[in-house]
Amino acid sequence: MNTFNSDNDAFSEAERQVIYRVMRSRRDVREFRPDPVPFEVLRRILEMAHYAPSVGFMQPWNFILITSLEIRRQIKELFEMRNAQEIALIADAQRRQLYGQLKLEGILEAPLNLAVTCDHRRDSPFVLGRGPMPQTDLYSTCLAIENIWLAARAEGVGIGWVSILDPQAVENILQLPQGVELVAYLCVGYPIEFRARPMLEEVGWKERMRLEDLIYHDRWGIRFTE
Ligand SMILES: Cc1cc2nc3c(=O)[nH]c(=O)nc-3n(C[C@H](O)[C@H](O)[C@H](O)COP(=O)(O)O)c2cc1C
Repeated sequence: MNTFNSDNDAFSEAERQVIYRVMRSRRDVREFRPDPVPFEVLRRILEMAHYAPSVGFMQPWNFILITSLEIRRQIKELFEMRNAQEIALIADAQRRQLYGQLKLEGILEAPLNLAVTCDHRRDSPFVLGRGPMPQTDLYSTCLAIENIWLAARAEGVGIGWVSILDPQAVENILQLPQGVELVAYLCVGYPIEFRARPMLEEVGWKERMRLEDLIYHDRWGIRFTE
């Protein structure tokens, strides 16, 4: 594996802009073309995931590549069940109707599904830095997932995160051992399009909040002014 010795060099302005463009244009994708993602492309994406930071360098992640149509059908069924329950929780009739129109997964259309897991047992019992904040192994796994999302965007590959699933049921289907937790169930494939804005923003579900309202100074709730 490449050791990236030369990467201590500063980034040029052009390189910086590319990185920011990748981050800004990353999208959650729910509509996919059927053509498969070549393994060498997938391998590069997963390599970037594997470069994510992790508590105590624990690297708690595994990546389960799911191509079986039978498994994907089972997962889709779990989605349908859970999604119906979620809709029922929305009190406002208009919001409920809007939610009902949203496409919130691409489990069967995507040529590949990818489960990302966190192995809490890895290096246990002592993981450097995890003791005071036991969830840091999950946070580490999420960082790997963001790397997947960004590297995929750079490769022109779409990723859709599906959380509207009973995680225990997914864990059973994937036969995860005790101590290994499902963190993300992802749909992977070439997208019909990368939208300019989040779909939830486009349909009027929610707008991007103002960054200035989220930056505090010294204590909670104190607005930061330059
Ligand atoms: C933890 C997590 C779970 C998500 N679960 C779903 C989901 O079940 N279905 C869905 O359509 N999008 C899901 N999303 C995608 C978000 O809706 C999306 O990231 C957000 O609306 C912003 O849009 P963007 O990712 O295109 O910028 C999830 C995202 C995250 C980070």
